[in-house]
Amino acid sequence: MIVVLTGAPGAGKGTQADLLVERQGYKKISTGDALRNQIKGGTELGKTASQFMEKGELVPDALLLDILKSELSAVAGHKVLLDGYPRNLDQAKTLEGLAAEWTVGKAIHLDVESKQLVERLSGRRTCLNCGATFHMTMNRPEKEGICDKCGSGLTQRPDDEVKKVQTRLTVYEKSTEPVLDFYRSKGVYVRVDGLGSTEDVYSRLLEAL
Ligand code: AP5
Ligand code: MG
Repeated sequence: MIVVLTGAPGAGKGTQADLLVERQGYKKISTGDALRNQIKGGTELGKTASQFMEKGELVPDALLLDILKSELSAVAGHKVLLDGYPRNLDQAKTLEGLAAEWTVGKAIHLDVESKQLVERLSGRRTCLNCGATFHMTMNRPEKEGICDKCGSGLTQRPDDEVKKVQTRLTVYEKSTEPVLDFYRSKGVYVRVDGLGSTEDVYSRLLEAL
């Protein structure tokens, strides 16, 4: 069974998914992380994907399908969190058409107002090595510029520049918000207030699960 973790860019999907992995034994599939790994590895898929990601646009669905299937097969038999997929109605239907093992049991919407999203994304710093996420004021690493988890350098994600954030938010409203209604109609949609400290949000999330 799958739990879909959805929400706008910067809503805290990655942060909360990492806590659920550490504390509740979930396996996480993040399509954003998988695409960034392809870019890092210099693959053809990564080269194509980066042209869309750099602009804050969605990567074509067809490129995501192989990634999704291979990531799912690696976590067979586990409880799985899906962070960043589905991002449009076609992807939601694709996911629905996969094996029964991958039925979506809950679609959790981390709901955060847009002013806070911009603040979170503009201050986010990401580990170059392990992908851990911090914030310059709201979730500071112990040593400035250094990842608490693996000691590597922190950097700003290229799509966190203000202009690209605006594009990502518009894409979210247009393409991803309809997915919320899709899950409402299936009876698996749960809204979780994403404002407040990461621990407060985590408690609400646990309750929702
Ligand atoms: P992806 O990597 O999925 O990015 P996203 O959806 O834009 O979401 P983010 O990772 O930016 O935010 P998040 O919700 O994970 O927030 P985080 O926990 O980091 O996708 C990137 C790109 O890949 C897309 O634009 C697209 O091009 C492509 N892509 C991926 N999947 C695709 C798909 N299925 N189809 C097509 N294209 C796809 O938190 C943000 C910040 O806030 C951090 O600094 C964090 O420390 C801080 N923070 C978190 N929680 C709190 C809190 N409670 N209080 C204060 N600060 C907090
Ligand atoms: Mg993320």
